Amino acid sequence: MNDLLLKALACEAVPRPPVWLMRQAGRYMPQYRAIREKHSLWEMFHRPDIAAAVTKLPLELLGVDAAILFSDILVIVEALGLSILFPETGGPRVEPAIKTGEQVALLNYIPVEESLSYVFETIRCVKREIDVPLIGFCGGPFTVASYMLDSINHAAFEQTKKWVRENPRTLHQLLGLLTEASIAYLKAQVEAGVDVVQIFDSWANVLGDEEFEVFSLPYLKQMIEAMNVPVIVFCRSSSLRAGRLAKIQPAGISFDWHLPMDELRQKVPPTIAVQGNFNPEMLKKTKDQITTEVKSVLTSMQNKRGYIVNLGHGVTPDIPFENVHCFVDTVKKHYS
Ligand code: CP3
Repeated sequence: MNDLLLKALACEAVPRPPVWLMRQAGRYMPQYRAIREKHSLWEMFHRPDIAAAVTKLPLELLGVDAAILFSDILVIVEALGLSILFPETGGPRVEPAIKTGEQVALLNYIPVEESLSYVFETIRCVKREIDVPLIGFCGGPFTVASYMLDSINHAAFEQTKKWVRENPRTLHQLLGLLTEASIAYLKAQVEAGVDVVQIFDSWANVLGDEEFEVFSLPYLKQMIEAMNVPVIVFCRSSSLRAGRLAKIQPAGISFDWHLPMDELRQKVPPTIAVQGNFNPEMLKKTKDQITTEVKSVLTSMQNKRGYIVNLGHGVTPDIPFENVHCFVDTVKKHYS
């Protein structure tokens, strides 16, 4: 098996850094769009045959060093008896939306083996057919809670922010419940075959520093401590919070592009891997520019352990496929 990712996460020496991309299977890929035309997103996430085929697309088309499970952070709400909808416009919605503390008290955990069995089936299908590590994932409790509380007009975070200010006890109750369900979910993913997990606390950046210490970090820490495979943490503005994220001791931290990677490498202890952190917008430049920028960062990271090449956030649908291919190829050729 190609074990570059596992070695980089263990901060061991590697012949070259591993490369994979957040949202590596997505609408920027013609082959993905062809599948998407025939099936709804909900169906793609819930059908193991489709989800497994989509998970493998980037291995076949880009030759990346890891696969990431094709699923969504919001399916976890099905383990709390709620539904997730993916309307064609307007972003995903949790139903029913949570409006009161009484609703939180009534949420009932349905064992993930039962409520999310299709995810584990996808993992087993993929694992039989790949020779690179498979990354499982879930959302950070705060981020998932924000979708439960602000399902409509998520970008405003109106109710989430209100609960942070006025209803912290109930919010903690919800976060505790999500943490327990998420730990069970990640452990079952590992049982089914994932080698590494990434926690996407994407929206933890809406919290101020002190709130981040109260409503996000302790829950992420609890999840990291419960796992016996490497855990990577991701959140927006991670480069501003490198020190705080390092304190909860994940195997790796996925960084945004607001600081240079070699500087971030120095801010984080040598036992923690750093992942990232190219601006996805960079992939809209010419191939020559992409090659030059990638080579320059790789040179700055030469001989540094614990480095995983990725973007600072997901590939967007408007990025040309051949540019993503050029990005991956440049990393793979740089050291040969
Ligand atoms: O990285 C991967 O390729 C793995 C699959 C993956 C998806 N979602 C598939 C998906 C992962 C890791 C996620 C995580 C996720 N989902 C996050 C955290 C990461 C981040 O981007 O910050 C969040 C906040 C969500 C919630 C979500 N799901 C939103 C806001 C949307 C709509 C916006 C969008 O990007 O289109 C989704 C839908 C979704 N999840 C798509 C994919 C590939 C869009 C697919 C499509 O329209 O065909």
